[in-house]
Amino acid sequence: MKVLILAGDGIGPEIVGQAEKVLDFVAKKHALNISVDRALIGGIAVDETGHPFPAETLEKAKAADAILLGSVGGPKYDLLPRNIRPEQGLLAIRKELNLFANLRPAQVFKELSHASSLKDELVAGLDIMIVRELTGDIYFGQPRGIEERNGERVGFNTMIYSESEIRRIAHVAFQAAQKRNKRLCSIDKMNVLEATQLWRDVVTEVAAEYPDVELTHLLVDNAAMQLVRAPKQFDVMLTGNIFGDILSDEASMLTGSIGMLPSASLDENNKGLYEPIHGSAPDIAGKDIANPLATILSVGMMFRYSFNRNDIADEIENAVKTVLSQGFRTKDIATKDEKVIGCKAMGEAVLAALNA
Ligand code: IPM
Ligand code: MG
Repeated sequence: MKVLILAGDGIGPEIVGQAEKVLDFVAKKHALNISVDRALIGGIAVDETGHPFPAETLEKAKAADAILLGSVGGPKYDLLPRNIRPEQGLLAIRKELNLFANLRPAQVFKELSHASSLKDELVAGLDIMIVRELTGDIYFGQPRGIEERNGERVGFNTMIYSESEIRRIAHVAFQAAQKRNKRLCSIDKMNVLEATQLWRDVVTEVAAEYPDVELTHLLVDNAAMQLVRAPKQFDVMLTGNIFGDILSDEASMLTGSIGMLPSASLDENNKGLYEPIHGSAPDIAGKDIANPLATILSVGMMFRYSFNRNDIADEIENAVKTVLSQGFRTKDIATKDEKVIGCKAMGEAVLAALNA
């Protein structure tokens, strides 16, 4: 198994450092042959090569079975031209590797439910899986640009989805629902947007192949409202790229701990890129206070989805639950009377729990 590590910017190197220790530990424990390589992405890649997704990184990413990514971006890069902004590195790797299926679980850990901005009873036990299409939609649609029309500047992007793009992500979502509580809610804006009328039509067609899954549809504005009104009504949510971007940030906040949530971005063959859903947090970079748990849980997802080792994924998730129940907290998830530890110490606590 070849793992490529892309630490990226900001807190990326620190959190990935702790996740790598977990990867090493389980590899030894289970006598797995895992080789680790490293490459540049994002702002650090711009600094060193002039491009956020250098050719060498693409080559290594293609050769890898799975990729672990920290985070990209930072204020230092805000003035760069759009085509070499750090985020372009992320968009490029998704597109080049055809990582169309983005799985974003939003789970409330029982020790942390008080940290949610919603009332405890609304979120206790919450467990939603957002399946977001990641390589289409207005993110990649043509035409796009800013140009002069009738004496003023006009900015434009195109929302576009083909039937085959919708169908393949729908299958991923139905299959995820089959493994969970067999409920799938598909999100669109069919009352206004043709691209999402097609979305609803195709998802409804695919549903015929999954009679055991209950399919519902919601308009995206209503879905955003339902997520804060009664989030536990959802099991799997299926969305396009832009709606999924927005709804997954909203869902993450329900859990009260954006520093806890991992994600997977998969291609047709379950080759995947794994990353925490939070950003590069430049304000706390290099201070050993970042929370490495989302990245550690991303390693868990790597074992579940790319390496087909649910047993190891469970071990990692259980170790994270153990450290939470032992009362270990990084600053972002601590309430006032809890003892705060740093990024490194949190990584070590997880290793100790894995060892126990
Ligand atoms: C995300 C991020 C990215 C996105 C940005 C950084 C390009 O917000 O992964 O959700 O919009 O997809
Ligand atoms: Mg986002």
